[in-house]
Amino acid sequence: MSRKKLLMGNWKMNLTIAEANAFCEDVKAASLVRQARQRGIMIGVAPAFIALQSVRKHAHGLIVASQDCHYADHGAYTSNVSIPMLQEIGVDWSIIGHSERRQYEGETSFTCNRKIKALVKQQFHVIYCVGETAKEYDQGLTKDVIREQVVTGLMGLSKDDMQYLVIAYEPVWSIGTGKNASVEIAEDIASFIRSLINELFGKVASQKTLILYGGSVKPNNIHEYMLQPDVDGALVGGASLKSESFKELLENI
Ligand code: 13P
Repeated sequence: MSRKKLLMGNWKMNLTIAEANAFCEDVKAASLVRQARQRGIMIGVAPAFIALQSVRKHAHGLIVASQDCHYADHGAYTSNVSIPMLQEIGVDWSIIGHSERRQYEGETSFTCNRKIKALVKQQFHVIYCVGETAKEYDQGLTKDVIREQVVTGLMGLSKDDMQYLVIAYEPVWSIGTGKNASVEIAEDIASFIRSLINELFGKVASQKTLILYGGSVKPNNIHEYMLQPDVDGALVGGASLKSESFKELLENI
């Protein structure tokens, strides 16, 4: 089964509103969305919460995702942003479970699960991030960790819900380090994730679900990942911050 490709920029805590708008103008001037569509590639960015509304307005066909959200609709959750707030500004994609949230904000696969369930109920597309730390990798625990993150994170979802899920494999040791995982590792884990989805939700869901690789993806290495049968795209941090580099990533897919 042929799957579309997805290139997503995760801007993390970078780009002010003005910088984000300038990025969108560059993307428009270079007709990147049109070029991507012609090649069957979906492209998007995940700005900081404060820039979401403005990027949504200036996005010109880019997918716009939040980097997180809360599972409750409203309430006493200081600093959080809810799904209805995102809906109000036309955002219907969200990253969940990024390793920086797991590492620094105490996010667990259980909290991710609550968020994912709330999001798919509202027909949001979810990019669920999984990945092992350097220590876990060294101890040979990668597949155990990924299994726990996938099984717990997707607990209680139906086959039908899976149409909204994208899984991003981002080994923590490769994020922002310049040490990108080899294509063999990326393919091995992407195909392992696909086999887990097959176990949990059946063959159709496993064949349809997009699986991304993330971690030090750059214009000069993105192409080799895209040649792997189970890698359907990339979740890119640093190299997605400048429109020129984002353009090169797209060109080299
Ligand atoms: P880098 O591309 O900067 O390594 O970040 C990857 C990432 O965490 C994307 O979510």
